[in-house]
Amino acid sequence: MSFENLSTAQGDPTAHTSGNTATEKFKGESIKSDTSKERAGAIYTDLLAAIAEVAHKHQVTYDEYRVLKNWMIQVGEYGEWPLWLDVFVEHEIEKINYDRHHYTGTKGSIEGPYYVENAPELSWKCEMPMRDQDKAAQPLIFKGQVTDVDGKGLAGATIELWHADEEGFYSQFAPGIPEWNLRGTIVTNDNGEYEIKTLQPAPYQIPADGPTGWFIDSYGGHPWRPAHLHLKVKSPGYREITTQLYFQGGEWTENDVATAVKPELLLDPKNDPETGYNVVEYGFALDKED
Ligand code: DHB
Ligand code: FE
Repeated sequence: MSFENLSTAQGDPTAHTSGNTATEKFKGESIKSDTSKERAGAIYTDLLAAIAEVAHKHQVTYDEYRVLKNWMIQVGEYGEWPLWLDVFVEHEIEKINYDRHHYTGTKGSIEGPYYVENAPELSWKCEMPMRDQDKAAQPLIFKGQVTDVDGKGLAGATIELWHADEEGFYSQFAPGIPEWNLRGTIVTNDNGEYEIKTLQPAPYQIPADGPTGWFIDSYGGHPWRPAHLHLKVKSPGYREITTQLYFQGGEWTENDVATAVKPELLLDPKNDPETGYNVVEYGFALDKED
């Protein structure tokens, strides 16, 4: 095993750019936890025991240890910890925190590294901010209602929507894209409804030309996520949902590199022959805050 000379293996030049941007953005957030010393000790003891168990089980060599050490240094230098962690670890944390509360509303999924708060507010019926090249892609009408778990519409709920363009790039993380392209905060109408025109996203390749890509190459994996929409849905007094929606039958839905697809989160748009648009309805049900 070696991670040498793999840094130019894949064409996409943005691992460094998007990694560093994601790292800088994350560092600007409020990052704290009120974990007690006892709990921290218990977690670290078990974590080190798990590492010891794996190392013994596989009789890890010194060469392998040094490659790991070098790789971790490189992940930091490329700013790729947010990328690597959100792809390989976040789905477990999301699952733990969903299951603990016995929620019955819409399922969550990982946030990923590319959320930006305070996207411009858009009306309940709107078109996402997009360039001419985005308009050339397959249009998608995404509509539905935000409700409580009993089906009552929630007026003034907000849906923050963000997704990649046709080439798989996110505004503010890849260069040369207008700041709020394909990002917006949609406010529902008096019935909790929304109707958004955007583009049908394409499958997404996580940046593969840096250490996350070398990691995937080292075990012969693939760097693909299925096409997806990212969403945060909020209404006062209700639990905030962070989730993603995918497309039924779409490539990589069965083997997402980030393990973040759930059957409840698959959309099945139909093409409207009159407009040529893909159209799909999806409802969000919010649990009461506990
Ligand atoms: C990554 C990117 C995404 O768009 C996403 O949804 C999850 C992870 C990543 O590059 O790490
Ligand atoms: Fe994403």
